[in-house]
Amino acid sequence: MTTMDSPARTFPFSTPDRFDIDPFFAQLRAEEPVSRITLPFGGDGWLITRHEDVKTVLTDARFSRAAAVSRGIPSIQPIPPIPELVMWMDPPEHTRLRKLVTKEFTTGRVEAMRPWVRETVASMLDGMVSTGQPADLVEHLSLPLPVMVICELLGVPYADREQFRHWSDAQMATTQFDVEAMVAAQHAMYEYFMALIAKRRADPKGDLLSALVRAHDDGERLSEGELVAMAITLLVTGHETTAMEITNFTYLLLQRPEKYAALCADPSRVPRAVEEMLRYVPLDVGGSYGRIAVEDVEMGGVTIREGDAVFVSSLSANRDLAVFAHPDELDLEREDNPHLSFGAGVHYCLGARLARMELQEALGAIVRRFPGLSLAVPEEEIQWRKGMIVRGPFTLPVGW
Ligand code: HEM
Repeated sequence: MTTMDSPARTFPFSTPDRFDIDPFFAQLRAEEPVSRITLPFGGDGWLITRHEDVKTVLTDARFSRAAAVSRGIPSIQPIPPIPELVMWMDPPEHTRLRKLVTKEFTTGRVEAMRPWVRETVASMLDGMVSTGQPADLVEHLSLPLPVMVICELLGVPYADREQFRHWSDAQMATTQFDVEAMVAAQHAMYEYFMALIAKRRADPKGDLLSALVRAHDDGERLSEGELVAMAITLLVTGHETTAMEITNFTYLLLQRPEKYAALCADPSRVPRAVEEMLRYVPLDVGGSYGRIAVEDVEMGGVTIREGDAVFVSSLSANRDLAVFAHPDELDLEREDNPHLSFGAGVHYCLGARLARMELQEALGAIVRRFPGLSLAVPEEEIQWRKGMIVRGPFTLPVGW
């Protein structure tokens, strides 16, 4: 039986290649669904691998984010959590902050942006075609699209993208950047947003940043630190993951030409295919930001003690046979798909609707326009990011 004293395994278990998932996750789901791990920075914790248990941790107030800040928590990143970030808060502070931004991410708001996103995708692909083959999809679409969308929504000048691109990468690093570089990037982002907030205060616009400045100034509903932290969170989370997934999904489809051809023949299948690719592609390297148990919890045959660190693996949950038929197969027609790629509970991804819409528009435009799309280099030449929280290729050279 697994207990606190069971030997902890080094985590992540391996450095995954492309979309590989360490087979050990399947073994743990079957034999030891709540197991001891040692994280690269700060010590041991519990790893949760079954869908049902992952969902419980994500939705149960006995697992706290705020306690992870106040008590300290091991991590796959070398820097400590920032207490003013919404993902490191519990209700009621979390609820107060999220309420200030949720109205920007409702179905209505996201759908209102869809025509503009469609036009933007079309003009980005025009740009790609005009440069000629082969062209890098990352440079022409995957990266600029989510950056432009979040800049527009938040009110950050798109012209500054090169600066915050580097800062944002540093926030998402595990081992790719050293601690000094990560901290320096945080400081640079804080300074950048302090200056931008001062500008919006003097000359408000119709964007989300101006609305947040108003919320701070009118009713002190968020502190200046929280205001800056929210802006940084939205900028970073708003583009990194979506950018990776546009590239990852395209790469995945190019590895399976018959599935790509089926989508080209019937692009109305794209939304369902996007859900399945969200489930199937292991975006992170296997863990997540952790939580601390604030009381003893029985789970998977073990007692998680009050004060223990707990980490969920959504990539493992997404392959759980108890929930998904033939979980290791990419089934673009899958109907029932309760994947956990956007999390669950109070921290459920704020931008999930926006991300889905961007992915649908990007993939929809690709399959409509380029039925002959192919990789322009041998697969082995594609360079994958390493030492980062999320996976994806640096570039995706394609021809059409
Ligand atoms: C494919 C793209 C995306 C994926 C896979 C993704 C995934 C996730 C996941 C798994 C979480 C929950 C983490 C946790 O439990 O703490 C999360 C939270 C969050 N996401 Fe996303 N995300 C994506 C795109 C976006 C976009 C476009 C935005 C836009 C602003 C965004 C904003 C956020 C924010 C602010 C949180 C923190 C929510 C909170 O703590 O209450 N994400 N995301």
